[in-house]
Amino acid sequence: MEIDRDRFLADLHRLRMFGASGVGKGVVRPAFSQADVDARAWLGRRFADAGLRVEMDAMGNLFGLAKGPSILLGSHSDTQPEGGWLDGALGVVAGLEVARAAQEGDGPAVSVVSFQDEEGRFGGLTGSSVWCGYTPLADVDSATDHAGVTLRDARRALAGQVTGDVDPAGFTGFIELHIEQGLTLDASDQQIGVVTEIVGTREIPITFTGQQNHAGTTQMHLRRDAFQGVSAFNTALNDRLRNVVTPTTVWTIGHIALHPNASSIVPGKASFSMQWRDGDPLRLRRIEEIVRDTAREVALALGLSVDFGPMWELEPTGMDARLRAALEDGAETVAPGRWQRMPSGALHDATNVARLMPVAMLFVPSIGGISHAFEEDTAEEDLVAGAQVLAKAVMRLQSQLTSPRKI
Ligand code: GLV
Ligand code: MN
Ligand code: MN
Repeated sequence: MEIDRDRFLADLHRLRMFGASGVGKGVVRPAFSQADVDARAWLGRRFADAGLRVEMDAMGNLFGLAKGPSILLGSHSDTQPEGGWLDGALGVVAGLEVARAAQEGDGPAVSVVSFQDEEGRFGGLTGSSVWCGYTPLADVDSATDHAGVTLRDARRALAGQVTGDVDPAGFTGFIELHIEQGLTLDASDQQIGVVTEIVGTREIPITFTGQQNHAGTTQMHLRRDAFQGVSAFNTALNDRLRNVVTPTTVWTIGHIALHPNASSIVPGKASFSMQWRDGDPLRLRRIEEIVRDTAREVALALGLSVDFGPMWELEPTGMDARLRAALEDGAETVAPGRWQRMPSGALHDATNVARLMPVAMLFVPSIGGISHAFEEDTAEEDLVAGAQVLAKAVMRLQSQLTSPRKI
């Protein structure tokens, strides 16, 4: 069973054209945007051309289904507000190519998925979270994006493509090929990373509220400036985390909204996302205590109030030993001596899917370690190598994964 390199790369480049940003190979294709709607319609047609039965659930997760029990391959095809052409797209198109190659080469039954809203316009890994039954659609439907649009309203854009639910019990396992999105493989000239575990994540929305006032007349000692709260919080947090974190712990304030966000007004309100990731649940918990304590102390010192929104949590997730061994075997065949085992610092739908079935992941290098940016790219021979390893692993698993298994 051999993948068709040209067909695979042509499909990957075609998918890039939906939402092409005009800057390098950058893509702007957030969940439920017109580009996403068009991309899913096109992907559905490609799945059908490959002889797969096309289904989309109410959340917008798109499946191409083989007959009978099958292994599920895929990832997501939505992007960040400024994204690259490979984050998610690679895993979906490689899954499609392996499904085609399996049919042509007497391989096993292979199904493909493109999960919806992995990039978190309405939370984080929203599509796979709903599909896995972790988050009821009714609960998440009232979630809003940064512009105040609800998921319920956004979903209307895909209503014409929705067919019905897909039962996870029909799949024997899930493998997700993805770009690394970090520097590890590129810096060491490795071609394949076989993932050992995916880090855990916590994210809390935090709001400091002070007093909106005139920026010319309000003396500094009289101000209750919400932005000064964020600034002091960030500095104090970096200092306090120093004794708790490891070199792989990461924390980010990635979104901030100042109110009313005008140059001559002392900001009365600052709302921001506080996210941290680590492989150790105890350390994730300890960081949470420090985040909350630091925010409260800063608020008290500056005359602000502080509110915490609901915390989003994803636990660190280990990969299935059997699927991982198949990937390692494939990596040694396709890229002898040029692969390694490694943890994933990025989040993936695989974390959610691991609640339901055996799951594994593999990475190909990201040039310069850049992702979630228009500059994201990977050498074509590495993209092809990733798809080949995926195909080899699926072949190897053919005899092992015959019956659906629920955990
Ligand atoms: C997923 O894109 C992540 O934020 O790691
Ligand atoms: Mn991704
Ligand atoms: Mn991403």
